[in-house]
Amino acid sequence: MPWKSSVRWRESAGLILLFGVLQTCSQGAPTLESLLVSRGYDRFLRPSFGGPPVQVDMSMTISSIDQISEVNMDYTITVFLRQYWRDERLAFAGSNHSLSLDGRLAEKLWVPDTFIPNAKESFLHKVTVDNKLIRLFPDGGILYGMRITAKAECNMDLEKYPMDSQNCTLGFESYGYKTEDIRFRWKAGNDSIYGVESLQLQQFKIGAYNVINGMATYESGDYSNVKFCFLLHRQAFYFIFQTYIPSILLVVLSWVGFWINAEAVPARVALGITTVLTMTTLIGGARATMPKISYIKAIDVYLITCFLFTFAALVEYAAVNFRSSVKKMKEAKRKLAAEKKCRNKMKANVTGLHCVDEKDNNCDKSHTILDIDMADDGTVGQAARSDGQKLRRTTSKKIGVTFANGVRHLVRSVSQVQMVRADVTSIDRYSRWGFPLCFLLFNLSYFLHYTEPWHGWLT
Ligand SMILES: *[C@@H]1O[C@H](CO)[C@@H](O)[C@H](O)[C@H]1NC(C)=O
Ligand SMILES: *[C@@H]1O[C@H](CO)[C@@H](O)[C@H](O)[C@H]1NC(C)=O
Ligand SMILES: *[C@@H]1O[C@H](CO)[C@@H](O)[C@H](O)[C@H]1NC(C)=O
Repeated sequence: MPWKSSVRWRESAGLILLFGVLQTCSQGAPTLESLLVSRGYDRFLRPSFGGPPVQVDMSMTISSIDQISEVNMDYTITVFLRQYWRDERLAFAGSNHSLSLDGRLAEKLWVPDTFIPNAKESFLHKVTVDNKLIRLFPDGGILYGMRITAKAECNMDLEKYPMDSQNCTLGFESYGYKTEDIRFRWKAGNDSIYGVESLQLQQFKIGAYNVINGMATYESGDYSNVKFCFLLHRQAFYFIFQTYIPSILLVVLSWVGFWINAEAVPARVALGITTVLTMTTLIGGARATMPKISYIKAIDVYLITCFLFTFAALVEYAAVNFRSSVKKMKEAKRKLAAEKKCRNKMKANVTGLHCVDEKDNNCDKSHTILDIDMADDGTVGQAARSDGQKLRRTTSKKIGVTFANGVRHLVRSVSQVQMVRADVTSIDRYSRWGFPLCFLLFNLSYFLHYTEPWHGWLT
């Protein structure tokens, strides 16, 4: 193998002291490039070519994370990436200090072909020069640092949006060297990542993070890679003020109708329709800023349920109104029948002062209503008393007509009061506590399910 022999030759030939040579360089002797060439350095060959894989250690400092986008499912990260490896060809003696070289020297040296597999686009900062550094150690160790901004893909599960946590990663992988040639690993496990604590994000908080040394398998072979995984916890306060509180208030507003008289049709219909329409607007506004995903998100569940609550309040009024009108009709029919019966009876007993047979139910009821009303209302009572005086004085035919009129009027007013009271007792009264109770239960189960407060205690 010619390659192997050349490597051996380079080792046996002994390593020229690069440091010393650099000093001679500054004295006007050969350039660094020509020196590398004179030592047989080939930047297209990896260190220990044909031998064991190069171990590349990584560490990085995160300088910012921003533009976390649910719509595009990505985030933008800026990092200082540092790679360490050993290239014996560049070892030097005479000093135990490291040498900082111009970053542009990187083009003359072999460097790992690291790329970011999950980056959609990325760039190296170039102001004012390429943001790169190269440091050489006496034993041939090299530190190669650079500043990168990458827009990295992060698959987000938005089922719990906006109470979700996203697990995002940033990976580094060798593009062309298989695991036999390059091995990546984090320099010091978790401690290879710096600057996480000082990050400030708009809508998220960075939670736990860990690092993985792994391998990716493609058709062309296995490639070593490293990954940095971090959890982004969304801060839901924005959504609480923007979406949750307005929808809660709308639902509460829709309950106001239960305390408004059922006879006030315009008031209750207007209230119901307004809350339903406002809820629709709120849903539309919330949806505009969200990705168009096919599954249902937590915020959708909440908004749709609130919509259903306001809608149910409107339907409740429809039920109340329908029931009261049915009742009214029944009552009117019953009254009509009773009046007819009573009048017939009166006509039959036209000679007696007491038109009503004590055993007759319908006419008996009229009597009792009259009694109650007399006790309640003085004026009507007086009218009834004067009626009574008239009754004693006037002829039997007249008695029947006036009495029947009075009874008819009283029955109507009393039955109306009874009917309204009955409606309130049935639907509206149940709704007054039923709706808030259901909404409270829904809220409890919703927030318990989606925020999982017990999660922290169990794990
Ligand atoms: C490093 O160099 C300094 C002087 O430059 C010397 O005093 C020290 O002993 C050296 N250390 C090692 C480990 O060689
Ligand atoms: C995030 O995803 C990686 C795999 O991509 C996994 O190893 C890691 O455990 C996940 N982190 C959490 C907190 O789930
Ligand atoms: C460090 O890594 C371990 C797993 O290797 C992980 O459980 C732990 O949370 C990490 N530490 C931090 C601060 O993220």
